Amino acid sequence: MTDTLTQPSASSAVQDDDRTLIIRDLHVVPVADRSREILRGINLEVRQGEVHAIMGRNGSGKTTLAYALMGHPSYEVTKGEVFWKGRDILKLSADKRSRLGIFLAFQYPTAIPGLSVASFLRTALNARNRPLDQVNDPDRDPSDLTRGGISMGDYRRLLREKMALLKLDEAFAARYVNEGFSGGEKKRLEMLQMAVLQPQMAILDETDSGLDIDALRIVAEGVNAQLNPDLGVLLITHYQRLLNYIKPDVVHVLAQGLIVATGGRDLALRLEEEGYAPILREAGMEAADEEPEAPEPADGSSH
Ligand SMILES: Nc1ncnc2c1ncn2[C@@H]1O[C@H](COP(=O)(O)OP(=O)(O)OP(=O)(O)O)[C@@H](O)[C@H]1O
Ligand SMILES: [Mg+2]
Repeated sequence: MTDTLTQPSASSAVQDDDRTLIIRDLHVVPVADRSREILRGINLEVRQGEVHAIMGRNGSGKTTLAYALMGHPSYEVTKGEVFWKGRDILKLSADKRSRLGIFLAFQYPTAIPGLSVASFLRTALNARNRPLDQVNDPDRDPSDLTRGGISMGDYRRLLREKMALLKLDEAFAARYVNEGFSGGEKKRLEMLQMAVLQPQMAILDETDSGLDIDALRIVAEGVNAQLNPDLGVLLITHYQRLLNYIKPDVVHVLAQGLIVATGGRDLALRLEEEGYAPILREAGMEAADEEPEAPEPADGSSH
């Protein structure tokens, strides 16, 4: 993948719609095994102000979609396009995607001992605020507050406001990034990062590992507190229960690397009642593989 900036697309359909993330015929293979096509032609449009959920069984390709959208080097897009603000973002580095207002939740999953949450988020904000088209402007460097960076006072105000929004204790900002964090605390940091960066399109992959119902609630409350007409959300999950807390406008079902059904909230309710098999059968897919899903987290369990 190149890292050059693309010109706004000549396609009028795209130029007309700068508020929509447009995924067209996306095919993705893992670099480790290029013969295995995981996503086989995904088409999806998410507008700012809308919440879309992508549901799918284990192994259906949900995380692969999130990774491909963030430009993870282990995944290669072999075909298709992803447009945002008139650009084909697949040609952009992950940090340029971020500077275009796209938030990818799991960018910093590792612990960074010695770096406080407050410093980390300030650096992330300054990096995100760098203008996309002025890569080497000596007069402007938001990481330097004398050259356009956010002042300490403004940053403290912003952080305090966002921590209050998410009902976070002030001590949280002084902790080291992810060091000794519980699953729920990692989710709190993810939500705080999103609140500070104020994206226009948030792609959240709610993986199953170690997530209990409290952690799901943290994500749900965090997202709900941030919903506004300028924020689009692509919420990837196999937990139907998450959709009891976040009400999606549109629900998509992903199976075998394809979106096989799209509907409203009723589709999520139908999944909850009937499981995936009838929907897969309707889509003409073999639904015999009734292997048990990873169990939904029990209500009220704590981490
Ligand atoms: N790097 C890789 N190399 C080989 N196969 C891979 C790679 N990454 C993913 N896959 C395969 O692609 C398929 C989809 O995986 P993916 O992680 O996208 O599923 P998922 O829908 O996120 O599942 P879950 O609900 O368990 O999180 C799986 O069969 C997986 O084994
Ligand atoms: Mg996954």
